[in-house]
Amino acid sequence: MPAADVRQVRIVPWAAEGLDVLQRINTPQMRKHVGGPETDDQILARHQKYLDINASGRGHMFIIVLDQDGGAVGTIGYWGRVWQGEHVYETGWNVLPECQGRGIAAAAAAAAIASARSERKHRHLHAFPSVENLPSNAICGKAGFSLVGECDFEYPPGRFMRSNDWRLDLTSAS
Ligand SMILES: CC(C)(COP(=O)(O)OP(=O)(O)OC[C@H]1O[C@@H](n2cnc3c(N)ncnc32)[C@H](O)[C@@H]1OP(=O)(O)O)[C@@H](O)C(=O)NCCC(=O)NCCS
Repeated sequence: MPAADVRQVRIVPWAAEGLDVLQRINTPQMRKHVGGPETDDQILARHQKYLDINASGRGHMFIIVLDQDGGAVGTIGYWGRVWQGEHVYETGWNVLPECQGRGIAAAAAAAAIASARSERKHRHLHAFPSVENLPSNAICGKAGFSLVGECDFEYPPGRFMRSNDWRLDLTSAS
């Protein structure tokens, strides 16, 4: 698969089309590091939660679109949370299996970081990929995050995984 033209990777606010993307990424392989596949009801609830996050201003969820392929290829977003006593943004991403390895997540992460930075709301953006999730850890490094260290991270609720705590300072120059 050729590298994507990063100029054609766009992130667009979460909308009705996002439900189809959530259904397509709901596979054992895609959700290996995040608790496994979800039920139809959980997917619907996730879709509604993403719409609500945008409506409430608590964060921004996006569909990743690749113009050259003509459609949605993944998800990305950031949302507010408290981490070790600090109000921060947390981020996460997914790219459809057939579109991986083309630089799409890295380009989408750069766009999401620019969006979070422009808000001037929180100083830090964190990502908490499982220590075993090598591609997701690679994205953190490529996107300019610094590795704080390992931590026990609760996701999904009630389940703890060994994660890396990556942090990016949104107030420093890009
Ligand atoms: C993580 C994910 C979004 C990456 O998407 P992508 O579009 O393939 O990412 P990119 O092409 O921009 O970059 C992938 C990087 O991972 C690296 N990578 C892939 N597999 C790897 C492995 N096994 N070991 C180390 N690095 C690996 C690639 O080399 C590439 O880095 P490079 O450009 O420096 O070579 C995608 O793998 C995914 O959707 N995974 C399942 C969902 C998930 O786990 N999301 C994260 C939850 S925290």
